[in-house]
Amino acid sequence: MDSSACALVLVMTSERDFAETVVGLCKKRGFFWGPSPEIYGGSSGLYDLGPLGKLLKNRLESEIRSSFVRANFWEVECPTVSPEIVWKASGHLEGFVDPITRCTKCGQAYRADNLIEEEVPDADIKGLSLDRLAEKIRELGVKCPACKGQLGPVERFNLMLKTRLGLDQDAYMRPETATTTYLIFKRLLTFFRDKLPAAVFQIGKAYRNEISPRQGILRLREFTQVEAQLFILHKDETDWRAFDDIKSYELPLLPYKIQESGSHEVTTFRVSDALRQGHFKTKAYAWCVNLAYQVFRSMGFRPESLRLRQHLPTERAHYAADAWDVEVQTKSFGWVECCGVHDRGNYDLGRHQQYSKENLSVKDGNESVVPNVLEIAFGVERPLFCHIDNAYAEDSERVWLRFPPHIAPVQVGVFPLMGKPELVGPSQEIYDEVLDSGLTTYLDSTGSIGRRYRRQDEIGTPFCVTVDYDSLRDNTVTVRDRDTMEQVRISRPELVGILLKLVKGKATIAALKEGQPATI
Ligand code: GLY
Repeated sequence: MDSSACALVLVMTSERDFAETVVGLCKKRGFFWGPSPEIYGGSSGLYDLGPLGKLLKNRLESEIRSSFVRANFWEVECPTVSPEIVWKASGHLEGFVDPITRCTKCGQAYRADNLIEEEVPDADIKGLSLDRLAEKIRELGVKCPACKGQLGPVERFNLMLKTRLGLDQDAYMRPETATTTYLIFKRLLTFFRDKLPAAVFQIGKAYRNEISPRQGILRLREFTQVEAQLFILHKDETDWRAFDDIKSYELPLLPYKIQESGSHEVTTFRVSDALRQGHFKTKAYAWCVNLAYQVFRSMGFRPESLRLRQHLPTERAHYAADAWDVEVQTKSFGWVECCGVHDRGNYDLGRHQQYSKENLSVKDGNESVVPNVLEIAFGVERPLFCHIDNAYAEDSERVWLRFPPHIAPVQVGVFPLMGKPELVGPSQEIYDEVLDSGLTTYLDSTGSIGRRYRRQDEIGTPFCVTVDYDSLRDNTVTVRDRDTMEQVRISRPELVGILLKLVKGKATIAALKEGQPATI
């Protein structure tokens, strides 16, 4: 635990209060607003990102992109709307459904499983059929939260948003980017010179017509998905050489067998041990689960906030032969499912081959085979919210967001001590230099210096540079640490280099202070 966490005084009384406090700060400071469009009363599940939310999202996307590129994935971009035949083939028209129930008195519709979990948090309903969900509602006496009316039967509701191309072609907004990546498989194969494995990812919008989304930006009808697909031959899944690079890494795992025994205790496994004990079926799949975990670490989540939970067999999506989730612990909503790693087998390419009548097989020796797909899939908005939740801190004097410096929306605040031209001029020069170095910076000349520090604390700016009258005499400036509020004097020529090190976590204000004479 860092020193600032020791000073943390959380005065919120419950998860709900905490979530409201975090959302309140996000709206006040411009991370996100909604439901959107606010001026027309808002529609659940639609949110606007404000300037800071957009900066934070860009930052996360850039970490995500680098992680996949480092793992030899290539990025593509496909249309967000596709004709109906695609979704028939993919199975989404039939299988991408949620269980809904309506109040027999006021007509309000609810997602049955979410409603049961909200009303009876201890109820264990993962993987239950529609009939069993309806029985649970009766057994537990769950009523309509709005009017306390009786709830009706549990039915299937397709989550895709329907639209039309041209005059009369039925089409759907994509509920996942993955399917649109499979549609270009033949082209990709040529790009990869007819050799597998082929590793590809997309970052783009996807749409889901959630019934009654009520968890802010955690459950959106339009969101940005990151989905990485590894096209692979069956024989390579067990003989995956890159596995050797990661086999000794440690992962916090919650396998389904442990959950079935009623426990939710996470165990740290070496990847090779988890494979040997049968928690992962193949080396390639284990490698993908590890990659998903490392992507979340690269986004700046601390190991103690992360766990990997395997889906129960009854919980898996229609295309998945095995599935593990990356979950992030939050103070607002407990463990939040943020990312799924799916073994999709050859379900998708097989179905698209069948429906399109195109040959999507590849040569494996003398045999023609339809390749398998391993997938890492997540929305960006969930980790974004989890980051803000994890970062929130307050004490009797201030609120601050303890973002890891490399993902903070604004990385460096620059202030003249007062709004006088002799201080504003050099501050503007520093601002330009910091901007040129690639860091995100903000110049603020208005209000008292204390208020300016508080404003930057509330948006999580890790370092603030102040130009004062000593700066004009000795060509130094102060750099303040957001978490400890400690300050250190730095000489101007060294400033940008030191800020870059601070943001990358290669230096700390405390260590820099130690290196200075005590009088400074
Ligand atoms: N492509 C998997 C998902 O949308 O979760």
